Amino acid sequence: MSKPKIVVTRHVYPEVLAHLAPHFEVTHNQADKPYSLEEWTALLSQQDGALTMGIEPVNEQVLSACPQLRICANLSVGYNNFDVPAMTRHKVVATNAPDVLTETTADFGFALMMATARRITEGEHYIRRGDWHQWKLDFFCGAEVHGTTLGIMGMGRIGQAIAKRGAHGFGMKVVYHNRSRLAPELEAACKASYVSKAELLQTADHVVLVVPYSKEAHHTIGAPELALMKPTATLVNIARGGIVDDAALAQALQQGQIAAAGLDVFEREPQVHPELLKCHNVVLTPHIASSTRATRLGMAMLAANNLIAFFKEGRVLTPLNPEVLA
Ligand code: DGY
Repeated sequence: MSKPKIVVTRHVYPEVLAHLAPHFEVTHNQADKPYSLEEWTALLSQQDGALTMGIEPVNEQVLSACPQLRICANLSVGYNNFDVPAMTRHKVVATNAPDVLTETTADFGFALMMATARRITEGEHYIRRGDWHQWKLDFFCGAEVHGTTLGIMGMGRIGQAIAKRGAHGFGMKVVYHNRSRLAPELEAACKASYVSKAELLQTADHVVLVVPYSKEAHHTIGAPELALMKPTATLVNIARGGIVDDAALAQALQQGQIAAAGLDVFEREPQVHPELLKCHNVVLTPHIASSTRATRLGMAMLAANNLIAFFKEGRVLTPLNPEVLA
């Protein structure tokens, strides 16, 4: 019997391809060349399944050209590249990769918050430019982290893991805002208190965004929200581009409306808003919050195992539209 045909859309570790090879006829892209929409649609139309990176659109237009397609398995936890209702209509199973990246991503969110508050990259750039000639008392004075108030917007698994680092490791007071309030035992484990969005923005010294992207969450932080924040506060976005209005943020940073920002995600990745690039008080990283080899391998293997479980056993490990399997 012929094997199902799948595409692995970008470069992955060789052990992922070796894991898939016995089960599938695999088209891979180890050259890591991004596809145009036309190339992507044409390629996907030839496949039974796909291991996607969280960036390839799987929407009504693409799905209409892919009647053979049965499943798309994202290796990311974020799945804003999927139009899940459209996939459900087309009876295409959607999966993502939760849990495997939680602690690694929380480590990074915390590191980015620390780097932003303590002006670490600004100091490094100063040294590399050859500008360091003498020590000064108020050199790169940053914001305190320990004992301050940490505001987390989006209190899913990653938000909770960041809260624990802040509360237990750094003695921070943790406030959070989320679509729904956590169960009391989860709040207690994170030592976190639920507050309104406005209260969080007004009281937090460090705001960390971990909100999943949706149309409703677009520009969760724009000019009105930035205006509520303290002039000494920092803002960190490890959620998704589009959660923050990057132009409004650049303006707030330039005008000293907030002290600094740390950004791992951007509205038009891989392009960064030109005004943000001009700001000295922003730490920029290229969407790497989950990027350790162990974690990225774990994410890819989970996506691979979703594909294998689906074609072998008619089930998946982390479904986004379980009704398609019912
Ligand atoms: C995720 O898993 O959503 C990360 O942002 C990597 O895309």
